[in-house]
Amino acid sequence: MSFDLDKLVRENIKALTPYSSARDEFSGEGRIFLDANENSLGSPLTKWYNRYPDPHQKELKKAISRIKNIAAEYIFLGNGSDECIDLLYRIFCEPQKDNVIICPPTYGMYKVSANINDVDVREAPLTDDFQLNLAHIEQLVDNNTKLIWICSPNNPTGNSMHRADLEMILNNFNGIVAVDEAYINFSKHKSLLLELADYPNLVVLQTFSKAWGMAALRLGMAFASQAIIGLLDKVKPPYNVNQATQELVMKASYEIAQVNLMIRELVGMRDALARVLVQMPIVEKVYPSDANFLLVKIKDAGKVYEHLLNRAIVVRDRSRVQFCEGCLRITIGNEDEITVLVQALKDYAKKV
Ligand SMILES: Cc1ncc(COP(=O)(O)O)c(C=O)c1O
Repeated sequence: MSFDLDKLVRENIKALTPYSSARDEFSGEGRIFLDANENSLGSPLTKWYNRYPDPHQKELKKAISRIKNIAAEYIFLGNGSDECIDLLYRIFCEPQKDNVIICPPTYGMYKVSANINDVDVREAPLTDDFQLNLAHIEQLVDNNTKLIWICSPNNPTGNSMHRADLEMILNNFNGIVAVDEAYINFSKHKSLLLELADYPNLVVLQTFSKAWGMAALRLGMAFASQAIIGLLDKVKPPYNVNQATQELVMKASYEIAQVNLMIRELVGMRDALARVLVQMPIVEKVYPSDANFLLVKIKDAGKVYEHLLNRAIVVRDRSRVQFCEGCLRITIGNEDEITVLVQALKDYAKKV
């Protein structure tokens, strides 16, 4: 394989002079800050929030570097992984010219973000057992294929992709392989993070929205070579991670033991719920899950969805999504929520 990052990057991005923020333009020790048109009197909240946050998130990156055991130079932080997804399009994909490959059924934003950026999406559906179809992916690749999106563990199917298949793509594709590991903490499989040094074309996405329980704060991570991180830094909005998020995630980063307890609890409840669901006559299949949700094939899924909704229980109706026909995606709730869900399903089953 001959991977040439320079060839992949859009010309306008190579030529871009990035925005230089007020705090970037002085060196030395500042005491009085009259450079960024903030409100120097304060704010109704606390004196801290009148100032722009650190655009480089230095302290937060140190904390994440500590958790992940990866040097800060290999870390990019975004306003959710959704921002990282969008930025990868902006860096690598020329609208109306380049294309990307996705493997449905998968996370919807890869396609939406492509559509927003006017980039062609080619689809290599997963096989019947929800694994990558390497032959189909290979067929779709041409000189304008810039990105292959792989979600592992995959949303909405819940399974992890075979490691050998991921390595095959990483070793043979000259574009960027974006592996979205949003659910990796719930999986028994190893993250690709440890392999970062071996693959110059690898971008690993992770998030604080799932196992870390901080979806409201919007913090996503991209891990990649320093060259790719440099490009992400170049195109990002200057203050894309706000001050409250930087402070709160830093604080949470010391609570890794609590996060690990939650992960263990959720995985235990996931497996217990799967065992209960397979016993139910209305359930046709519970797909194996490495995530914090279950994909469940169920008789008259649309009706079941409505029944649950009537009881104010909201699951994700995937029954009309191609390759997920007849399925509901159920997030693992807390113990009370699961008890109510199971009772509602039993009540439904009694009626039919
Ligand atoms: C696979 C996958 N990637 C990314 C995201 C979004 O993550 P974030 O909240 O960091 O934008 C989700 C959210 O559901 C997801 O399922």
